[in-house]
Amino acid sequence: MPSSRPSPDRQHPRILHGRRRGRPLRKRQLDLLRTLLPNIEIRAPEADGTTLPVALNLDLLFPDSGQTRRLWLEIGFGGGEHLLFQARAHPEIGFIGCEPFVNGVVKLLSGIDHGRRTGDAISNIRIFRRDGQQLLEHLPRQCLDRASLLFPDPWPKTRHHKRRFIQQDTVDQFARVLKANAELRIATDHAELCRWVLRHLASHPSFEWMAEDPDDWRRQPLDWAETRYETKAAKACRQRYFLSFKRNSAPAPLASTKT
Ligand SMILES: C[S@@+](CC[C@H](N)C(=O)[O-])C[C@H]1O[C@@H](n2cnc3c(N)ncnc32)[C@H](O)[C@@H]1O
Repeated sequence: MPSSRPSPDRQHPRILHGRRRGRPLRKRQLDLLRTLLPNIEIRAPEADGTTLPVALNLDLLFPDSGQTRRLWLEIGFGGGEHLLFQARAHPEIGFIGCEPFVNGVVKLLSGIDHGRRTGDAISNIRIFRRDGQQLLEHLPRQCLDRASLLFPDPWPKTRHHKRRFIQQDTVDQFARVLKANAELRIATDHAELCRWVLRHLASHPSFEWMAEDPDDWRRQPLDWAETRYETKAAKACRQRYFLSFKRNSAPAPLASTKT
């Protein structure tokens, strides 16, 4: 899938923690990586000699959607259960899924392929296989109508907190790429990470917690498909926390991307 510039697979200097590979892939899965993925993969645009990341050209990513384009993002989609559910339910919306774990990517590809073979073609998903922070840097400002981060790695040890996806600069990036009134959904089964997320988001000038009553965080949003990780958490009787934030109309923090 083309970006606005020629796409060399530029290596990003940020360290990506966590697994990139699990079990060896079967032949069918390798075939999907070779045949299906190139049609829907987003490659990071090439640096242009300045220090700012170059923005992705969304017109090339979703050529049919034009002015009316609505775009949802899911970062760390795991096996893609939630992403597939949402993409099926909203064929008019463009979806960007970000996941560096190749075994998760092939699960999503298998789901897309299965749909294609059973007359339920899904054509509105694009995949970015690198760090979600890198993807955020390459998105143009105010392009997203929703972003979801579902059960991100909690990195419970204090010395690993800096590896958590939610950090001040990531929240600033979300503020930059989300449209006014867009929604940022974060779910976790880790109480301390939940507090961390609230600390970062609820105090940020661009976001408002959308909780409607004191029990709001216990309930899944209505349009929801359980993720694999969430099912495991439920089986182990761990409390799950569902946090939704609205991007308000405050000006975005200083841009760190070209547009
Ligand atoms: C605990 S799993 C949850 C997966 C899925 N959301 C679910 O609920 O089943 C966290 C996922 O985030 C992905 N991940 C970790 N760091 C990431 C990053 N920097 N950017 C994008 N994805 C990341 C991992 O590969 C993993 O699949």
